[in-house]
Amino acid sequence: MQESPMSRVLVNQLRFYYESPYLNLFEDVTLDIDTSWRTALVGRNGRGKTTFLRLLQAELPPSAGTIVAPERLTRFPYAPADTTGQVRAVVKESVAPFQAWEEEMDELLQHDDEESLARYAKLQERYDAEGGYTIDARIESELAALGLTPEELERSFDTLSEGQRTRALIAALFLRVDSWPLIDEPTNHLDAHGRDLLATYLARQPGFLLVSHDRMLLDRSCDHVLSINKSDVRLTRGSFSTWHEEMKREEGWESQRKETLKREIRALDNAARKRRTWSARKEKEKRGGGDKGRIGHLAARQMKRALSAEQRGEKRIEEKRELLKNAEKERPLRLRPERSGREGGRPLLVVEDVAVGRGEHPVLHGLSFEIAAGERIALVGPNGCGKTTLLATIAGELSPHTGVVRLPPRHTVVRALQTPLWSEGLLHTHLLAAEIDEPLFRTTMGSLDLSGEIFDRPLETFSQGERKKVELCRSLLHPAHLYLWDEPLNYVDLFAREAIEEAILEEQPTMLFVEHDCRFIERVATRVIDLGALAPGP
Ligand SMILES: Nc1ncnc2c1ncn2[C@@H]1O[C@H](COP(=O)(O)OP(=O)(O)OP(=O)(O)O)[C@@H](O)[C@H]1O
Ligand SMILES: [Mg+2]
Repeated sequence: MQESPMSRVLVNQLRFYYESPYLNLFEDVTLDIDTSWRTALVGRNGRGKTTFLRLLQAELPPSAGTIVAPERLTRFPYAPADTTGQVRAVVKESVAPFQAWEEEMDELLQHDDEESLARYAKLQERYDAEGGYTIDARIESELAALGLTPEELERSFDTLSEGQRTRALIAALFLRVDSWPLIDEPTNHLDAHGRDLLATYLARQPGFLLVSHDRMLLDRSCDHVLSINKSDVRLTRGSFSTWHEEMKREEGWESQRKETLKREIRALDNAARKRRTWSARKEKEKRGGGDKGRIGHLAARQMKRALSAEQRGEKRIEEKRELLKNAEKERPLRLRPERSGREGGRPLLVVEDVAVGRGEHPVLHGLSFEIAAGERIALVGPNGCGKTTLLATIAGELSPHTGVVRLPPRHTVVRALQTPLWSEGLLHTHLLAAEIDEPLFRTTMGSLDLSGEIFDRPLETFSQGERKKVELCRSLLHPAHLYLWDEPLNYVDLFAREAIEEAILEEQPTMLFVEHDCRFIERVATRVIDLGALAPGP
C-alpha cells in the first residue's frame, strides 16, 4: 500500500521553551512517527508531554525547527460545547456539526433555485465524507465497545459519571473520519473495569498517540513508545514492557558505570596524593642537600613533570566527577510512619456497622471492617460508590450517619487528597503555614524528580502530575499511624509510582487507599476491600 504523506508526523530539529518563566523543554528533536502506530508517549511529569501534543496541534509555535503533522487532530480531554443533550447527541456533535448540516440541508431543499441545489450538493458531499449517514449506527457500536449501554445513550450527558463521560468522549475521537487521536491521560476518572474496557478498545484501533502512566493500559494497547527522557526524545518499536525492561537495563548499566567512575576517581585521587608527597619530599631534599647543580636540576625537571601530571590528573578527576553527576540517580523516597505498638495485636482501626454520606442519604451503609497495624488495604469499587466519602469519615472530617469509627487515642491519620489541597501560590508560603520543614520537603520532592526552579514559580503553572506530587509529599512528610490515600497516583509518572511502591514496601506503613492502577495494588496491597461487594447499598 502506498503511504500517503498525511500518515506521517515529521518533526525536524524542534526546539521549544516557555518564555516566562523560562523553561527549555525540547532541544534538537527529530522524529518520524507513523499515525497508524499505536504510540505511547511517556516521560516524567513536567517533561513536556502535554506541551508536545499542543505543539503537534499547532496550538503552540516551535521556538525553532519544524513540525509537519496531519491537519486533523483531536485531543482528549476536550469539553463538548453543550452537555445538556442526550449522550448520543453530544457524541455526535463532538464528531462534526451534523445537526447544523442536517438543518441547513432541510432548509436548502425548500428552495429549488440553482444556487440552493448547488449548495445542497456540496453540503451533502461533506456530510457523507464525514460519515453523516452512518454516524448513528457507529456511535452505538463504538460506545457499546466501551461499555455504554443503549439506555445510557438516551440519558442526558450531564447525568453520566466522570468515567462514563471519559469513555463516551474517547469513542467520539475515533468516530471522526481521518483524524489522528491524541489522548492525554484518559485513565484518571476510570475505575478498574473502565480501564480494562479502554485497553481492549484501544488495542484494536488503527492508530493514536496516548499519554498515560498506567502500565497495564500501555502494555495492552501500544506497539511503539515515544519517550521524553532527561536529555533526549526517543522512539522505540515494541511494547511498553519491552521498552520498560530496556530502560531498566540501561539504568542498571548507568549505576554500574557510576560505580566504575567512583572507583576511577578514588584511584586518581590516590595517585595525586602520592605525587604530592613525592614532590614535597624532593623539595625538602633539594633544599637540605649540598649539591645545587646536577641533582637540583634533575629534581626541578622531575618536579615540573610531576606538576603537569598533577594538573592532568586534576582535570581527569574533574571530568569524571561531571560524568558522575549525569549518572546520579535520585535518592530513594522516605515515608515517615509511626509505630503504634499494636503490630500483630489489637486492630488499629475499627469500622463498625457504619453508614456514610455527605447529604441526607447515606451512600454506603452496614459497613464493618478492621485494619491491623502494618496492613495496606486497597479500597476498590466502581465510580461513585462512596470511597472518598468513607475516607473522609475515617479521617474525622465527616461524622458517620450511624455506627462507629474507632482509632486508638493519640493515633494520627494523614490523608492525600484526590484533588490536591494546594493549587495556587508559592510552595514556600504553604510550607510555612503548614509548618513543614522546607529542606526536607525539597529532598522528598527531589526523590520524585522535582527540584530547582519549581520552587520559584506559583502552583498555577505546575503540570497536573507536579501538583499531585506536591500533595503526595505533603502526606509523606507527615508522621502518621494510618495513611489514607485517595487515588494518589493520578497523573503521577511511572518512575515516581515505582519509587512510591519501593518506599511503601521498605517502610511498611499502615494504609487504606483508593487506587485504580492494578499494578500498584498487586505490588503494595496486603488485602483488598471491595465496597461494591461489601456494602448492601442504600
Ligand atoms: N506557560 C508556562 N510557562 C512556564 N512553564 C510552563 C508553562 N506551562 C507549563 N509549564 C511547565 O512546563 C513543563 C512541561 O509541562 P507539561 O504540562 O507539558 O508536562 P507533562 O509532561 O504533560 O507533565 P504531566 O505528566 O504532569 O502531565 C512543566 O514543568 C510545567 O510546569
Ligand atoms: Mg500532561
